[in-house]
Amino acid sequence: MGASCAMNLAMKEVADVVLVDIMEGVPIGKGLDMLQTGPIEGYDVTVTGANDYAPTADSDVVVITAGLARKPGMSRDDLLLANYEVIKNVTEQVAKHSPNAILVLVTNPLDAMCWVAYKVSKFPKHRVVGMAGVLDTARFRAFIAQELNVSVENVTAVVLGGHGDTMVPVTRLSNVSGIPLAELMDKETLDRLVTRTQNGGAEIVKHLKTGSAYYAPAAAAAEMVESILKDKKKVLPCAAYLEGEYGVNGLYVGVPVKLGAGGIEKIYEIQLTAEEKAMLAKSAGAVQELVDVIKTKMT
Ligand SMILES: NC(=O)c1ccc[n+]([C@@H]2O[C@H](COP(=O)([O-])OP(=O)(O)OC[C@H]3O[C@@H](n4cnc5c(N)ncnc54)[C@H](O)[C@@H]3O)[C@@H](O)[C@H]2O)c1
Repeated sequence: MGASCAMNLAMKEVADVVLVDIMEGVPIGKGLDMLQTGPIEGYDVTVTGANDYAPTADSDVVVITAGLARKPGMSRDDLLLANYEVIKNVTEQVAKHSPNAILVLVTNPLDAMCWVAYKVSKFPKHRVVGMAGVLDTARFRAFIAQELNVSVENVTAVVLGGHGDTMVPVTRLSNVSGIPLAELMDKETLDRLVTRTQNGGAEIVKHLKTGSAYYAPAAAAAEMVESILKDKKKVLPCAAYLEGEYGVNGLYVGVPVKLGAGGIEKIYEIQLTAEEKAMLAKSAGAVQELVDVIKTKMT
């Protein structure tokens, strides 16, 4: 996923990229491969790789994808403690070498790993953000567009909550060029697409058998990086540290944010129905459970 994200950023000439991995030589080889793609694709950014963090010094943005991916039958939560150790180590190195960076977390379980990176880096909350909602809404948008046989570009979707089976697609606010979904499909169809979105990651894992999705997650992380580095101020669904917003305190949960040069420049609080509020509370509860497990490890 990390390599795919680097390739995506290079193709868009968004940044010079340094790949880091613990697998000896692999990021260096991949970096050379991507550098040599430049003359063909016509990008002038540099892509390099390393097994240590020195070459990443003073990065503006660091995308953290290190860790284990889900295997078939394994939930995101099974990954919790293994990836906690990885994120702790990686974040310590990143914070040491790039103290002013904005961190974009991708590793699962996403919302809990954001919390770890926030605590370990001691960065302000607006400089630690998680990628999940951009991917989840992309999946929802793709399924809606396919169902209605319309362009994906016309489909807007709103998703809140933790990344996982408890994510909250806000179908009431999702639409096709302003036309509410409820006017375009019956409830049964909508429910089917929501369920497919909630299980979107697992559906791909089931087919791949040895790994999880990477093209769409990589593109999603790259969209966030581009919005930050170009200060585009895109409003995207991202995992953000909440302190009272949506009734959540001290947790990372997916909400609409403005992403610009300052990182998370604004959190948007949408008026929710009682049912949506209950779903979001349940989703935040699931994130809280994971964070509670990590807290016992931390003390
Ligand atoms: N947030 C999302 O929506 C989303 C989507 C897809 C994947 N993911 C997650 O992203 C992560 C990466 O997925 P992937 O498919 O690229 O997995 P992968 O196994 O292909 O790559 C992970 C890489 O991390 C490296 N790594 C492990 N420990 C490390 C450490 N301490 N320091 C540096 N590198 C280390 C491994 O060597 C490996 O190359 C997984 O946790 C996966 O669940 C999240």
